[in-house]
Amino acid sequence: MNALRDEPSVVLPSFLLCDFGNLRREIERLEEAGVKAFHLDVMDGHIVPNISYGMPIVAAVRKLTKLPIDVHLMISSPEKFIPQFVDAGADCLTIHAEIDSDVPAVLTSIRSAGVTAGLALNPVTPLQMVEPILSACDLLLIMSVDAGFGGQAFNPIALDKLRLASEIAPHLLLEVDGGVNRKTIASCREAGAHLFVVGSAIFGQDDYLRALGELADAME
Ligand code: DX5
Ligand code: ZN
Repeated sequence: MNALRDEPSVVLPSFLLCDFGNLRREIERLEEAGVKAFHLDVMDGHIVPNISYGMPIVAAVRKLTKLPIDVHLMISSPEKFIPQFVDAGADCLTIHAEIDSDVPAVLTSIRSAGVTAGLALNPVTPLQMVEPILSACDLLLIMSVDAGFGGQAFNPIALDKLRLASEIAPHLLLEVDGGVNRKTIASCREAGAHLFVVGSAIFGQDDYLRALGELADAME
């Protein structure tokens, strides 16, 4: 993930809406379109009202690409699964600030495992709540929808948080996730986001090269 710091801005496709029956082809098409990293959404039906997939899909993607894999853990008790996700091939593990676990301790164990430690905030969670623990993380994921589903509308509350985060924690990789498309991506960039998670604005189109080109143009 550290290599991504040198890129001006990075669009990470979120696989939630991809064709899992053709994972190999999906990854090839995204790599051909110039993608530099992937985002995988793991949901356990507890902290979000949805269930997606777990370690086997991370491991399957790992076999199909050398690009960084950013894993967004929307699960309770992530501390129980850190080693499994690292073994599956995750390069970044992001946990949610809203969980009951000892969040700084989990972030520390992610770092100790040698992967990027990320912290995600739902729209309702103020940045001030996590300010004291930002030194324990490498990446801050600002959610611009309530975590749980792809295809939701962008919540501009994320923009204020991105601006504030770039001021108070310039060491962090700043990522935005949810409703990011060609209409919203420029404002996210202006607010300081560096990593842009995009689901429906890529997978809703047949031509991924074109979808990524439109996002790049919109950022200019
Ligand atoms: C939502 C996920 C997102 C989602 C993004 O909980 O974290 O990664 O798949 O999808 P879009 O871009 O459609 O909002
Ligand atoms: Zn996500």
